[in-house]
Amino acid sequence: MPTPGDAPGLKWGIIAPGGIANRFARAIRAHTRQEIAAVGSRSLERAQQFAERYQIEKAYGSYEELVADPEVQAIYVSSPHSQHCEQALLSIAGGKHVLVEKAFARNAADGQLMVDAARQAGVALMEAMWTRFLPGIDIIRQLLADGALGDIRLVAADHGQDLRHVPRLLDPDTAGGALLDLGVYVISFAAFALGQPGAITARGSLLDSGVDAQEAMILNGYAAHPGAEAVLHATMSARTPTTAIICGTDGRIELDSDFYTPQPVHFIAPDNTRLTSPSPRVHLHQALCYEAEHFATMVAEGRTESEWLPLEETLEILRTMDEVRAQLGVRFPGE
Ligand SMILES: NC(=O)c1ccc[n+]([C@@H]2O[C@H](COP(=O)([O-])OP(=O)(O)OC[C@H]3O[C@@H](n4cnc5c(N)ncnc54)[C@H](OP(=O)(O)O)[C@@H]3O)[C@@H](O)[C@H]2O)c1
Repeated sequence: MPTPGDAPGLKWGIIAPGGIANRFARAIRAHTRQEIAAVGSRSLERAQQFAERYQIEKAYGSYEELVADPEVQAIYVSSPHSQHCEQALLSIAGGKHVLVEKAFARNAADGQLMVDAARQAGVALMEAMWTRFLPGIDIIRQLLADGALGDIRLVAADHGQDLRHVPRLLDPDTAGGALLDLGVYVISFAAFALGQPGAITARGSLLDSGVDAQEAMILNGYAAHPGAEAVLHATMSARTPTTAIICGTDGRIELDSDFYTPQPVHFIAPDNTRLTSPSPRVHLHQALCYEAEHFATMVAEGRTESEWLPLEETLEILRTMDEVRAQLGVRFPGE
C-alpha cells in the first residue's frame, strides 16, 4: 500500500461544502500533496466560509462556475445522493475527472448515465467508497487472492447509527434512508469479498416519510463462491456493533467496530490461532486521504477507472440497492 503523501498532486474543486466535504478537506490537507484549488456552493457565502477555513484560493456561488474554472482538474462531488448524477454530468461536461461520494447515485439508471458520459469524455470517474482504499482492506484483498480462507461460506456485516436527526436522511427528495447512506457499506463489503449475488432477499421497515428506516438482507447465488451467503443489516435508528466478518473453510477474517474505518485485521485459523495486523497509522475520517490518493495516482497514470473499485462493480452495487428498495417498497420521487 503506498504511503499517504506519495501520490502526485491534483488540483481539486469541491462541489457542495457540507459535512463530509469538511472531513475530506481536512484529511487531504493533513496527509497528501493534493491541492484544493476551488470550492463551489449554491451560496457564495457558504463557499467563501469554506474557502477561508481551508485557505482555498477561489470560492464560487454556483457549481457551474466551479466546473468552468480551467485550473481545476478533478471534482469531488459531496452533495446528497439525489444530486450526484446531475453534478457528475456537469463536471464531466466541463472535462473534469470526478470522484463521487457514496452512494454513487440514487439508482442504477442514474449511475449508468454517469458511467456512459465519463467513458465517452475519456475522464476518470470513481465512487468515493473510502473503505475500499484502506490499508486493512488491502491486507484482506491479498489474503483473499491467496485463497487463505479456503472456500468462503459467510460474509456478515452490520452498519447502524442513530441518524434520525439528519434532515437529508429523512427526505425522499434527497434520496434519504438507511440503505444509501449506511447499507451501501455492507453491500459494498460483501461485493468486495464475494462478487455480485444471483439472489437477493430483503425485509425491513420504512419511516413515515417513505424512506427506509432499516433492512435485513440475505444475498446468495454467487457464481465464484457457490454455497456462500452474505447476511447484512443496516439501520438509521440505532447504534449497532458495526463489525464485519468473512468466514471460509480454512479460517476467518474479523474487523472490529467500526469496520468501515481503519482497523487492524484479525485472521483466525480453524484451531483458533489468531494473527492481528499492526494498528492503523491514520484514524477515522482522516483516512479519506487514501481514496483521494488512489484517484490522483489513477489520473496521473492516465487511467480512467479504479482496479480496486471498477465502475461495473459500482453499478452492480447500485442494482443490488435498487432490488432491496423494490422489495421494501421504497421509491424516490421521479423514479
Ligand atoms: N465517506 C463518508 O464517511 C461519508 C460520511 C457522511 C456522508 N457521506 C456522503 O456524502 C454525501 C453528502 O453527505 P453530507 O452528510 O456531507 O451532507 P450535508 O452535510 O447535508 O452536505 C451536503 C451539501 O450538499 C449541498 N446540496 C446540494 N443540493 C442539495 C439539496 N438538494 N439538499 C441539501 N443539500 C444540497 C449543500 O451544500 P451547498 O448548498 O452549500 O452547495 C450541502 O451542504 C452523501 O452522499 C453521503 O452519503 C459520506
